[in-house]
Amino acid sequence: MQRRAFIQKSALASTASLAIPNVIFGKKPEDKKVRLGFIGVGLRGRNHVEQALFRDDVEINAICDINQTELDKTISLIKGKGRKEPALYKKGDRDFENMVKRDDLDGIIIATPWEWHVPMAVAAMKAGKYTGVEVSATVTLQESWDLVDTFEKTGSHCMILENVCYRRDIMAVLNMVRMNMFGDLLHTQCGYQHDLREVKFNDGKKYYGGGVEFGEKAISEARWRTQHSVDRNGDLYPTHGLGPVAEMLNINRGNQFLYLTSIATKAMGLHNYIVKNGGENHPNAKVNFKLGDIVTTNIKCANGETIMISHDTNLPRPYSLGFRVQGTNGLWMNDGNHIYLEGISKKPHTWDDFKEYQEKYDHPLWKKHAQSAENAGHGGIDFFVIRAFIESIKRKVAPPVDVYDAAAWSAISPLSEESITKGSAPIPIPDFTRGKWKTNKPIFALNDEY
Ligand SMILES: NC(=O)c1ccc[n+]([C@@H]2O[C@H](COP(=O)([O-])OP(=O)(O)OC[C@H]3O[C@@H](n4cnc5c(N)ncnc54)[C@H](O)[C@@H]3O)[C@@H](O)[C@H]2O)c1
Repeated sequence: MQRRAFIQKSALASTASLAIPNVIFGKKPEDKKVRLGFIGVGLRGRNHVEQALFRDDVEINAICDINQTELDKTISLIKGKGRKEPALYKKGDRDFENMVKRDDLDGIIIATPWEWHVPMAVAAMKAGKYTGVEVSATVTLQESWDLVDTFEKTGSHCMILENVCYRRDIMAVLNMVRMNMFGDLLHTQCGYQHDLREVKFNDGKKYYGGGVEFGEKAISEARWRTQHSVDRNGDLYPTHGLGPVAEMLNINRGNQFLYLTSIATKAMGLHNYIVKNGGENHPNAKVNFKLGDIVTTNIKCANGETIMISHDTNLPRPYSLGFRVQGTNGLWMNDGNHIYLEGISKKPHTWDDFKEYQEKYDHPLWKKHAQSAENAGHGGIDFFVIRAFIESIKRKVAPPVDVYDAAAWSAISPLSEESITKGSAPIPIPDFTRGKWKTNKPIFALNDEY
């Protein structure tokens, strides 16, 4: 009885809180096609193109890439769906500057190597375009400020395309957090724990696994991403974990990151992998990787909560973003997918299977759009992230994950590097909202519209 009464009361509270945002987001979407351009159509950019092609309210008018093979694959994808061939921008590293000036583009999606995100996003925003930028949005602290300052000067919105915020279990947990089922939140854990050691390579005929190359000789991400493991020691990819928990903790909207400390293990994983798969005499066996195999970062928040983030990409392990969301009433853990809520769980001190809760507390967005999301990558989340970008363009409103989120979430990388360099010293995290977090209200996924 007590359990049922609590859930009913909470469900009412949730409905009430869901009603408020319609005042903010009640703008009717414009009934004309959203015209998109894409910079970077490699593996990720092409996923986004595919999502755009599923929609009949979107036109793709231009694409930009410096790699002809990636362009060819994308053009055949677009033409395969019976759409017209977009204008191409492929004349070198800065041809995107010409594309962003086109007057037949409302929005630009950027899925290039990390170091290109900010130059491209700033150019797109200065040209008055809605800008969607892949994760992490920025590499340096200055770049986080550049995004914020450009938005504040131009009024052009910038969305960080953090698809994990839209994961179905995460959104159900967010729903439950907003219903106060966990009580006051105290601690969250998350991370990027994904074995990225192997490079798949192509000899012109077929793909092979077990590759140990990076840079010029590699393909896709390994052409640029592995070099970061040579040059940097910090949490290189924080936002898949941090974005979702930042939404639960209302970061930038009533709460704020205050400071962090980071600690790194020694680096062994990539070297061992190269020796095992390429031999001790492979030239890459001599490379000195700076990135510690496991980097652990702890963040303290203004309202008293802590966040622990783990970066673990160079060791053998199954994939997990390792979420844990814990409050005064109990906790949910992603590994094992179980939950314990005092007074609600069936037995004291005993986990319940989260599956029972998933269905009951499924987020309204998922309930409404689950079928459309089915074709999309990463279990449907890619549908939602692109949809949110497009819907915010149609409504001429700020995207639900905005430039302040892009700046603050991505800034964890350079700040964790600084902490490690200084012997795990606490490093203040800048307030990119310049005080507005105290009065800003949550905007993410408040209703079933977007
Ligand atoms: N959200 C997710 O789930 C997810 C998944 C994968 C990758 N990503 C992110 O997406 C981005 C791209 O990753 P990817 O795996 O597609 O890498 P990729 O190497 O396959 O694609 C990057 C593309 O950018 C192009 N490019 C590089 N410099 C350019 C320039 N100056 N002008 C135009 N094009 C340029 C490359 O030729 C390439 O085609 C990264 O930021 C990555 O972190 C996100």
